[in-house]
Formats: sequence, C-alpha cells, structure tokens
Amino acid sequence: MKIKRLERNAPCWCGSGKKYKSCHLAFDDKLRRYELMGHIVPGHELIKTEKDIEGIRKSAVINIAVLDEIGEKIHAGMSTQEIDDIVMTTTSKMGGIPADLGYEGYPKSVCTSVNDEVCHGIPSKDVILKDGDIVNVDCSTILNGYFSDSSRMFLIGDVSPEKKRLCEVTKECVEIGLSYVKPWTFLGDMGSAVHQHALKNGYSVVREIGGHGCGNAFHEEPFVSYVSKPGTEMLMVPGMVFTIEPMVNMGKDGIFTDADNGWTVRTADGKPSAQWEIEVLVTEEGAEILSY
Ligand code: MF3
Ligand code: CO
Repeated sequence: MKIKRLERNAPCWCGSGKKYKSCHLAFDDKLRRYELMGHIVPGHELIKTEKDIEGIRKSAVINIAVLDEIGEKIHAGMSTQEIDDIVMTTTSKMGGIPADLGYEGYPKSVCTSVNDEVCHGIPSKDVILKDGDIVNVDCSTILNGYFSDSSRMFLIGDVSPEKKRLCEVTKECVEIGLSYVKPWTFLGDMGSAVHQHALKNGYSVVREIGGHGCGNAFHEEPFVSYVSKPGTEMLMVPGMVFTIEPMVNMGKDGIFTDADNGWTVRTADGKPSAQWEIEVLVTEEGAEILSY
C-alpha cells in the first residue's frame, strides 16, 4: 500500500505540528479507500505544506512579472534571443533563477516556440519575430528552491483569423481544464474536458508531451495528459500542485523533435500549434492559480 500508516498520536507528516489523529488521519483513510478501489492516488510527497505553497507563490510572482514584461516588449523585428535576455535580466533583478537554464543541458533561460513549433523552441539571435507570427513564451523560475512554471501565447502584429482562433481556443482549453480542478475528482476528468474542447473546434492535442506536478522540483509526478478519459489518471487532492498546459495543433497531433538541437518539437504536418500554461494548487474548495 502506498499510503503508510502512522501512529495516531505521532506528529502529522504534513508539518502542521498537530497530532496525526487530528490532522491528516481521515484524509489518509480516504486516500487508501480510493487506492483499494484501484485508482491512482498521490503519495504524501506530492502534497505541499503551507510553507511549500508560500514558497511557490513567491516564485510565481517573479514568473508572472517576467511574462508581463515580455508582453509589454515583444514586437515584430525583435529576435527570440532578446526575449531570453529579458527573462534573464528580469528574473535576476527579482532574485530568482530561470529554471530552464541548464535543465538537462537546455542552453537558454526560456522556451520561445514560433508557429509550427510545439514547444522547446530555443531562443536565437537568428530567429526574428515577424508580422503574423504566433509565439509561445514558456517561462519557469526558481526562488529559494521553489519552482513556478507558466506560458502564454503572443500574437505579433496582424495575425490571420485562423491562427488567432487557435490561440483563443487553446486559452479556453486551459480555462475549461481549470474549472475541472476539484479535490476528490480525477485528472482524467480535467484532461478529457480539455481534449473535447479542442476536438470540438476541429483541432488535435499533442499526446506524448503534457503537464506535470511542479513546485518543490521542476517536473514532479504525475504526468498530466490532455487526451485522457474521465474517471482515470491520478486522484486530485488538496495540496497537489500541477500544470495545465495543453499543446493544441491546428492540424494533426503528430510531432517530431529537431534532430540538430535535440530539443525543439514541431508539428509533423507543419501546421501551427499553440499552448497556454498555468500552474494550479488543488484546494479544499477547488483550485488556486499559482502562476499564469
Ligand atoms: N517549461 C517547460 C514545461 O512546461 C519545460 C521546459 S524544459 C527546457 O514543462 F529545458 F526546455 F527548458
Ligand atoms: Co510545464
């Protein structure tokens, strides 16, 4: 059994300082019941303490400010390297560290994915944003060991109605996903709602890459799919933190990774792809957005 039993009078594992019996005992019993029914349940290591949540919130203040700053400065004619420079400067000024830099050898501070780039576009002085481009800027921050992660789409100048619509629907997918974040329901309920909204609009959703637990590390369990089925995947419980970040393709869901840089993922059919990402906390009532 995944959920270990503690002695009733022992201090609770959550760090509250309270006795187990008057803190998470009933919670653990409930988790164990779901586990026995065959569901995937989070281990205690995925339940954030109040201190963790406070740390992630502060990290997210920087992440949000960096994306706001990019929103003000992004324009046609600028290189994606300039976006990287803004991320580094703004994050450092606020006392944070860009989480992307050096992550598994990633060479830059942010991901900038343009048009048919699905994710992990590498900033470069040779990539110049032009009128009509859509670009995802995916930003992640470390502050005092706590991680925040979110991304937004930016529309450069005069964007075609088709691409504009793709970006709008992708944002709606995230909002709909968020409305499904409720304790004691399943990640598959959320993922399925995201998928259905994309399909309804004639789009597809990338299957191989998804969201993730986040906060005390950059990428934690569970993997969060947006092509999942209701009543499946991990049970959501208060204290879990994860990202909602569907990659929505205008055409088919097929993707490939750039063989030269080993990072950049593109659509197989060359059609545009969009992504929005938020980081959310599951609360007793529903959800709290930590980073956006
Ligand atoms: N920010 C991305 C995510 O949403 C991860 C980027 S990892 C990097 O999970 F190494 F490519 F930067
Ligand atoms: Co993420």
